[in-house]
Order: sequence, then C-alpha cells, then structure tokens
Amino acid sequence: MKPNVADILVEALPYIRSFSGKTIVIKYGGHAMVDEQLKKDFAKDITLLKFVGLNPVVVHGGGPQINSVLDRMGIRPQFVRGMRLTDEPTMDVVEMVLGGKVNKSIVSQINQQGGKAVGLTGKDGGLIQARKLKIYHQAEENKPPEIIDPGLVGEVTHINPGIINTLAEHGFIPIIAPVGYGELGETFNINADLVASKVAISLGAERLILLTDVDGVLSSAGELISSISVGSIPSMIEKKVITGGMIPKIECGREAIDSGVKKAHIINGTKRHALILELLTDEGVGTEIIA
Ligand SMILES: Nc1ncnc2c1ncn2[C@@H]1O[C@H](COP(=O)(O)OP(=O)(O)OP(=O)(O)O)[C@@H](O)[C@H]1O
Ligand SMILES: [Mg+2]
Repeated sequence: MKPNVADILVEALPYIRSFSGKTIVIKYGGHAMVDEQLKKDFAKDITLLKFVGLNPVVVHGGGPQINSVLDRMGIRPQFVRGMRLTDEPTMDVVEMVLGGKVNKSIVSQINQQGGKAVGLTGKDGGLIQARKLKIYHQAEENKPPEIIDPGLVGEVTHINPGIINTLAEHGFIPIIAPVGYGELGETFNINADLVASKVAISLGAERLILLTDVDGVLSSAGELISSISVGSIPSMIEKKVITGGMIPKIECGREAIDSGVKKAHIINGTKRHALILELLTDEGVGTEIIA
C-alpha cells in the first residue's frame, strides 16, 4: 500500500514536539555541497526545521571550494591528520572563500526558501576566539611524535555565544564560517568540525549533526558502523580505521558528548534530506556517537 502523505507528516510529531525550542548545531561539510539541487535541498531542510520550532545553527566547511581557488592560484594544499596546513597566502584564500563565497551562498539559498539566515565569521561579535594549534604527528612507531607547525591553523579557546543567541531569539538562522581571531588580532583557519562542537557545547545544544560525503563512519571492510561508543574511538584511530577528515569529526563528536551535548551524529549530506530523515522520522541514518 502506498504510504499516506498525512501519515508521514504525522510521524514527525513526536520528534517536532521533543525538539521544540531546542538548539541543533549542524556542520555542513564542504564535501556535502556537491551540486545545486543538494544545496537547495539543504536550504529547504534548515528552513523547515526553523519553521517547525527547532533552533538550527549552521557551521560550514568548504575544503573543496578552497582547494579549487588555491589550485587556480597555483598553491598546493597540504593536510596533516585532516587539518589544512595554512600559510599566509592560504589563509587569505580561506577567509575569502569561507567568509565570502561559501557563507553567502548558503545564506542566500536559505533566504530564497523564506528563512532568515545571517552569515557570520568567528570575528563577528567576537564569536570565536582561537590560538595557534600544535599538531602531534606519530610518523613512525617507536619514535616520539613530531610536533608540526600548521601555520595559521587555530583551535578554539572560547566561544562568545551572545551574537548567536541574539540572532536566534529574533527568528534568524546563524550561518557560521570557521574563521577565528587570536589575542593579537591574528586570523585563524579552524577545522569546521571543531568549531561546530565548541558552538554546540557553548549553546547547550540538543544535537550535533555532522553532514559529510560518506554514510557515516565505515569499518575497515567498508561497512557502516551505526553506533560508536566514545571509548572505542582511540583504538580505531590508532588502527587507522578512521583517518584524514574523519578524525576531527569523530573527536569533536566525542568532546561534544563528554561536555553535555545529548547526541552527535555523522551522516551523509549528499543524500537528499538526510537531515530531516535523521531528526524528524523513525529512520535513523549514519553513525551515532554515544557515551
Ligand atoms: N573510517 C572512515 N569512515 C568514513 N570516512 C572516513 C573514514 N576514515 C577516513 N574517512 C574520510 O573522511 C572523509 C570526510 O572528511 P572530510 O574532511 O573530507 O569532509 P568534510 O569534513 O565533510 O568536508 P569539509 O572538510 O570540507 O568541511 C571521507 O570522505 C573519507 O574519505
Ligand atoms: Mg573536514
């Protein structure tokens, strides 16, 4: 029998009721911004969540978009443990692409759907304070880890949520580019997963949802792991089951859970309406990180 559309809508009622007024922080990965249709669908999903009474806050990435501009400028991107090594010319591109092109495109897509989105970088309203990140990299076993200087890569030291709360109270949807400022006025490129988890913690969010380009955390056999307990994470990184861009994702999911966020999910943002399926239906998708 064909499912009744009304039944499908009503299935969302318990979810809408339990999330009413609650903050949901969504990390929108650059890798999930695949084509115009998907971007439009994402904008619809966020707008719908706002209109049914949730309080969505978006933090976005933009890795592929940054790489494409760097490529045009003849700069080769380099990564360690999923973090972009960022010299000054790269930082300029990161700030322009994230705070400009990518941020404004999300804002205008949501506004086209009737939402009221406002774009911010971490500099606006003193939102994201940061300091230089040191990366410890274990290149070879039985040797002490190397300390790598990633350049202008930051880690969050403090979130001032005032601007986000003010916007949300007035019906706006904050869209945050992961660029922070240092004590001396430096500009820092921060992995968007890390920003999303810190924002979620500082807002006391109900959910942290990381939208990426894979179905969730995959096992070495390539199968989706639907639930991961925080205790099993270190050994999965050590055994190199989790590598690259999945490392900051899973680590920040763990941190969010440890700091009071109720649940964290990693889901495939290249599947249409994955966000709505995860939040408002019985159909759980992706990987859930649990305590
Ligand atoms: N065990 C694993 N399961 C799933 N993906 C993994 C795993 N280990 C590494 N990855 C990689 O992590 C990638 C996701 O992180 P990535 O940083 O590339 O994207 P993103 O964070 O969604 O986008 P952006 O960095 O632009 O915001 C996957 O595409 C995959 O290649
Ligand atoms: Mg990433």
